[in-house]
Amino acid sequence: MEMKIGVIKGDGIGPEIVDEAMKVLDQTAKVYGHSISYTQLLMGGASIDVNGVPLTEETLQLAKDSDAVLMGSIGGDAKTSPWYQLEPSKRPEAGLLQLRKGLNLFANLRPAVLYDELKGACPLKKEIADRGFDLMIMRELTGGLYFGKRSTEEIDGVLTAKDELTYNENEIRRIAKRGFDIAMKRNKKVTSVDKANVLDSSRLWRKVVEEVAKDYPEVTLEHMLVDNCAMQLVKDPAQFDVVLTENMFGDILSDEASMVTGSIGMLASASLNDTKFGLYEPSGGSAPDIAGKGIANPIATILSAAMMLRFSFDLDKEADAIENAVAAVLKDGYRTIDIMSEGKEQIGTAQMGDKICEYIK
Ligand code: NAD
Ligand code: IPM
Ligand code: MN
Repeated sequence: MEMKIGVIKGDGIGPEIVDEAMKVLDQTAKVYGHSISYTQLLMGGASIDVNGVPLTEETLQLAKDSDAVLMGSIGGDAKTSPWYQLEPSKRPEAGLLQLRKGLNLFANLRPAVLYDELKGACPLKKEIADRGFDLMIMRELTGGLYFGKRSTEEIDGVLTAKDELTYNENEIRRIAKRGFDIAMKRNKKVTSVDKANVLDSSRLWRKVVEEVAKDYPEVTLEHMLVDNCAMQLVKDPAQFDVVLTENMFGDILSDEASMVTGSIGMLASASLNDTKFGLYEPSGGSAPDIAGKGIANPIATILSAAMMLRFSFDLDKEADAIENAVAAVLKDGYRTIDIMSEGKEQIGTAQMGDKICEYIK
């Protein structure tokens, strides 16, 4: 198969972790007889430096022309980076939001799996970690607070900021369907997370999710308030299969879920629309604190590349090969610093990519 992949290396650790994912993709393509062409795209801080804006029309078009996009992460240190002297709509994060919206990537899948080999890196009590977990966060990605109107103004001499949270029933229905579709391929349970005891948008969310559930009689649906969900994720993560939620709640809960797997450096993600196209990126950020040191964990990005092969190219065998290689390297005891535990061997970003490639034969 010929694959046309757009690559956004991004900022901070972005280029380091994306290089490893490309290494693993190249090795997989070599072993399974595929060919990949990469187009480098600039987005985020790297684009501001060259173009003055975090996303240009040309880049958006080039992304659309690709079969899929592999991305590192964007952004910098808000205190020290000059990007944050710009108005909010010109900062790196705005580019990411424009890209998600411009590509209509409404469904963000963030799988959080506690690998047997990483139980020692899980911060939870041993008896909880020993039970393991394998959950999928299905986060709505193009609506809610992220895309509502915002303003900061002085009202009666008082500085007042406003962010609007809007969802319409169609936006909720399409993400809910995705959540149930995924649940049908997994353990057939959906936990829909909202704040229906306070928010109108959540009450509509609950109503529409219940309507959609009628088309999936085999799937068990439960509703959970977001504050309770945050607590349940550390108390008993094994209870979850698919966690279906809106944009902001999904952002927060996915960082929490990632840490329970051992590190944010383990959490892959796929952002999908109604076509085979997808944007694949780690769920974590550009980690300015460790950028350039060669110690970042590339596994989330490598697993995101596996998701790309699975969702955008239907290459299940190849995706399995990458996922199995990651598990094998962890089993062999190799660890980046973020998932390091006693008795294991600490290695850097590039070595981790090399080790994973060794298993793809
Ligand atoms: P962050 O996820 O970048 O970092 C949080 C902590 O996790 C840091 O200690 C970091 O070192 C660690 N970490 C993150 N990824 C890691 C990896 N692969 N290996 C090892 N450790 C890792 O979050 P932050 O510090 O809040 O944000 C930094 C910048 O990243 C901000 O500009 C933010 O807007 C941006 N950001 C971008 C994305 C994205 O591009 N999708 C996601 C989240 C944050
Ligand atoms: C993520 C990030 C982004 C988000 C930021 C960088 C805009 O935190 O992908 O989780 O909040 O969606
Ligand atoms: Mn986030």
